[in-house]
Amino acid sequence: MTLIAQLSDPHIREPGRIAYGRVDTADYLRRAVASLMALPQQPDAVLITGDLVDFGRRQEYEHLASLLAPIRVPLYLLPGNHDDPAMMRQCFPEHAYLQQPMADGFMQYCARIGPLRLISLDTTVAGQSHGALCARRLDWLEQALAACTGEPVIVAMHHPPFTTLIGHMDQIGLLSGIDELRSLIARHPNVERIVCGHLHRAIDVRFAGTLASTSPAPAHQVCLDLSPQAASQSGWSRRDSDCMRTRRRPAWSRTLRPSATIRARFRFTSRAAH
Ligand SMILES: [Fe+2]
Repeated sequence: MTLIAQLSDPHIREPGRIAYGRVDTADYLRRAVASLMALPQQPDAVLITGDLVDFGRRQEYEHLASLLAPIRVPLYLLPGNHDDPAMMRQCFPEHAYLQQPMADGFMQYCARIGPLRLISLDTTVAGQSHGALCARRLDWLEQALAACTGEPVIVAMHHPPFTTLIGHMDQIGLLSGIDELRSLIARHPNVERIVCGHLHRAIDVRFAGTLASTSPAPAHQVCLDLSPQAASQSGWSRRDSDCMRTRRRPAWSRTLRPSATIRARFRFTSRAAH
């Protein structure tokens, strides 16, 4: 059995600063990490699917590193649209997988977690909120998948490769490369799952013969407003149904994989009281 705990979108600010002037994201992440590390069955790895910090600043990453320090299992990070990959590399030099060379500076890597292969993609577009997968990144993925034919693979990426019907999130979703990714994944049935962030809430979608999922965030969640006119985060002060909400408890999700064949997968939100 391989157990991977996924955290996403912690949006950490500098010490003493709160996100959006109202959410102490560090406190939520601190409690989420404590909740994970208190599990009687420890995960084999922790994966954080982007938006690690809010503005890509050195002090934010240093704060993040201190918050993640209690994690005693292998930790994998990937960039979201709020991150600065170059600063990530500088602030996490001990994470050798972040240093893997790739053309154009994209932060894509492969790692092994027990019998699983983790393939992490970089969907970021410098200076933009939306995501993209260009030909270079997809070519790299094709080569990575070809190198692990027959092995169970988890693909991780920040922007999910599907529309959500939440208008403001779809406007900043993965705006290119979805069709190419779909045909690529469809040719590799050993991709057990695609795990994503960005959405700040959990959605599961069938995708190219596998399952694509987004994770809730430890702190603030996007409301399930399935409207093309769904308000953006900037509408925070408007009625609740338009806006992000803050969880009262930190959230994370996990994927279980039986060591032989995939029989069941499930995810849940921690109900640990903190
Ligand atoms: Fe985010």
